[in-house]
Amino acid sequence: MATDVPELPTLSHDIRTSVCIVGAGIAGMTTAYLLARAGRAVVVIDDGAIGGGETGRTTAHITAALDDMYQKIEKLHGEDGARMAAESHSAAIDRIESIASLEDIDCDFERVDGYLFLAPGNERKLLERELEAAHRAGLSDIEIVDRAPLDSFDTGPALCFPRQAQFHSVKYLNGLARAIIRDGGQLFTGAHAKSIQDGEPAKVTTTAGHVITADNVVVATHSPVNDWVILHTKQAAYRTYVIAARIPRGAVQHGLYWDTLDPYHYVRLQEVDPLLDPGRTEELLIVGGEDHKTGQADDAAERFRRLEEWTRQRFPMISNIDFRWSGQIMEPVDYMAFIGKNPGADKHIFIATGDSGNGITHGTIAGMLLTDLIVGRKNPWSKLYDPSRVTLRATREFLKENLNVAGQYTDWATAGNVDSCDQIAPGTGAVIRRGMTKVAVYRDDQGNIHERSAVCTHLYCIVDWNATERTWDCPCHGSRFDAYGGVVNGPAITPLSEVKPEVPASR
Ligand SMILES: Cc1cc2nc3c(=O)[nH]c(=O)nc-3n(C[C@H](O)[C@H](O)[C@H](O)COP(=O)(O)OP(=O)(O)OC[C@H]3O[C@@H](n4cnc5c(N)ncnc54)[C@H](O)[C@@H]3O)c2cc1C
Ligand code: FES
Repeated sequence: MATDVPELPTLSHDIRTSVCIVGAGIAGMTTAYLLARAGRAVVVIDDGAIGGGETGRTTAHITAALDDMYQKIEKLHGEDGARMAAESHSAAIDRIESIASLEDIDCDFERVDGYLFLAPGNERKLLERELEAAHRAGLSDIEIVDRAPLDSFDTGPALCFPRQAQFHSVKYLNGLARAIIRDGGQLFTGAHAKSIQDGEPAKVTTTAGHVITADNVVVATHSPVNDWVILHTKQAAYRTYVIAARIPRGAVQHGLYWDTLDPYHYVRLQEVDPLLDPGRTEELLIVGGEDHKTGQADDAAERFRRLEEWTRQRFPMISNIDFRWSGQIMEPVDYMAFIGKNPGADKHIFIATGDSGNGITHGTIAGMLLTDLIVGRKNPWSKLYDPSRVTLRATREFLKENLNVAGQYTDWATAGNVDSCDQIAPGTGAVIRRGMTKVAVYRDDQGNIHERSAVCTHLYCIVDWNATERTWDCPCHGSRFDAYGGVVNGPAITPLSEVKPEVPASR
């Protein structure tokens, strides 16, 4: 089985191709892989590494048990919509399995059962309603069991979703990369798209000034960096937290486990890297949860503490917490991802976004659906995932999220987090008010001060310091910038501006 990471060249020239894909996460790489298999010339660019975005941070539960539950999906999209959702996510699991097998990708792919159990205070009725909705959606093998197969605590009744899956996401993407190159595709990392224009041909221009012209462009940047407003009123960015701890091998049965809390906890097991555990005596227990809207909380330490407490109560066999990390999720207001032609007049720009906590299957669906749309095949799921759709029944959620965004603009009028740079400790950042504007100030580990405008370059909200990731996060639509102002996550496509020198007051 192949495991090596392909070596990639630097983009140093202009290119003409059939399809240019911006973003080398699960959505972009699956699309590139399937298009290359279909005989299209593809070029993939990413400003980081392959899988360096959220796909590299995922906990990779590969499942048709959707975050927002079939009972809610059915209310918004009808029985047909719920059936398409179940069918497409189930097909995505199968497709990942078949690609991993066909391409001989050593990515720890494993079929496991998934269990949804009740959070304290929730009633069995919730599971019963979900069971009925899932059956109506065509998932006929789902059943209620007395408890999930966990010895360390009694979950009480649980919904069992048989034959779901898990894998190591970055190993999988590296396998796709090797196959894309074999099929004639080109991949470039460290190439930031600074503009994406529709046309015949469509055009992607990088920060270094290279231009890729293509019949079609796929923007697979998690949050689309080409669309300025429409899509960003239909989804919201959330931050989620994960811890991982070593446990004795076999102490917990392999499976996917979720509770019904909002935000919910998610649990699974993963092989320990053989370099760290040559005797293969241990496994990693990975637990996530504690989500909040991006840029609207800076209490990561407390969230990690609560996650650890929840885990220790249920899995007392853990000792040290070996890893802690967080990542970003895009939550669509009507629960389904946006995959298809970019809304508006664009003819040759396609997007994949809004994939909630089911981004591995949504990203794979994006690969299948976008390939069909680009090569001109009909796809039965296109209406459900159409980015231009208006789901009137989701109006309440739409208004709630957009009122929340509107509220963030009051940050322009408030004081800074601190009054002066002296109050900022090494390795941390804070927003300071300076006259009419606000400045994002980062003090590096050596004590040097780095200043950028605190005004997000998307739609001008004020960014907030994220101490865990050392990034500036925007509370409005989830743009994120590194400590020095470079873009980490869209929709922003340009860095935080330099701070203009203050105009001295006239005497
Ligand atoms: C902690 C965590 C746990 C999760 N758990 C699960 C789970 O268990 N199951 C599940 O199904 N989903 C899960 N998800 C969600 C899932 O991981 C994501 O939705 C999915 O990986 C997103 O894939 P993507 O390809 O759309 O985006 P990404 O993987 O983020 O890829 C986008 C790429 O675009 C690049 N990019 C952005 N802007 C530009 C630009 N201007 N120029 C060039 N490149 C650019 C980025 O560098 C990045 O590599 C989880 C997410 C997180 C954060
Ligand atoms: S992400 Fe939209 S204003 Fe910052």
